[in-house]
Amino acid sequence: MKKIKETLDYINSITNGFKPEIAVILGSGLGSFCNNLKGYNIPYNDIPHFASSNVKGHKGELLFCKIEEKNCVIMQGRFHFYEGNSMQEATYPIKIFKQLGVNTLIITNAAGAVNKNLNMGDIILIKDHINFMGTNPLIGKNDDSMGERFPDMSNCYNKNLIEIAKNCAKNLDIDLKEGVYLATTGPSYETAAEINAFRILGADVVGMSSVPEAIVANWLKIKTMTLSLVTNFATGVSQNKLSHQEVIETGKKQGQKVSNLIKEIIKNI
Ligand code: HPA
Repeated sequence: MKKIKETLDYINSITNGFKPEIAVILGSGLGSFCNNLKGYNIPYNDIPHFASSNVKGHKGELLFCKIEEKNCVIMQGRFHFYEGNSMQEATYPIKIFKQLGVNTLIITNAAGAVNKNLNMGDIILIKDHINFMGTNPLIGKNDDSMGERFPDMSNCYNKNLIEIAKNCAKNLDIDLKEGVYLATTGPSYETAAEINAFRILGADVVGMSSVPEAIVANWLKIKTMTLSLVTNFATGVSQNKLSHQEVIETGKKQGQKVSNLIKEIIKNI
């Protein structure tokens, strides 16, 4: 708790006690969401007890700002498990958001299409996940003041937020699809055999993030939704080799659509 207090004290000293109610985590290539948004920027490297993020395509700072009259905090880049962060380090910001007053979390990510009916640039509203990371961010002593030892996961992706997102997509004429996200640790992309197995298990998209954050948010009783942007076909779905550069470029190209949708959702929460 001392750690959390030190982090909160630092953030509050910069933001003058700004109280966000909505948090947004931006995935690979989606940084343009913050263009034209003004507020308090805080580099992760300045924040006590935050890990550091240095993956290409991520900025590595928090932005506290108003969007559609709502107080928000935007995470520009996340802490991945594959970077060597522990699960606790990767999800620490979610605990901070809760303490700052956040009650709604919008997670975004770049993902590979496992379902052969999906296309590059599709936006998938995640209705459930498969945690294939082989670990869980809640392992360890449970802090009962924050959440339950064995949290229920049946509404991890909040049904009310899912309805709002669907209506917003309709308003914007975005063909929003629904699907199941399967998380691996990475950093190697999957083999074709793994992708075939994941399809049989019920996965529509695959990625290397988001599930730890969603689990911790659910534990903290923060209403959560996840949007995946399909940046590539998963291994074996097309003949192309996968490259991180392709993921970033598709993210950048299609990012505006995701940005517009997030802003519309924030307006309607
Ligand atoms: N696999 C895993 N993670 C990803 C992918 C993928 O194909 N695309 C973007 N993130």
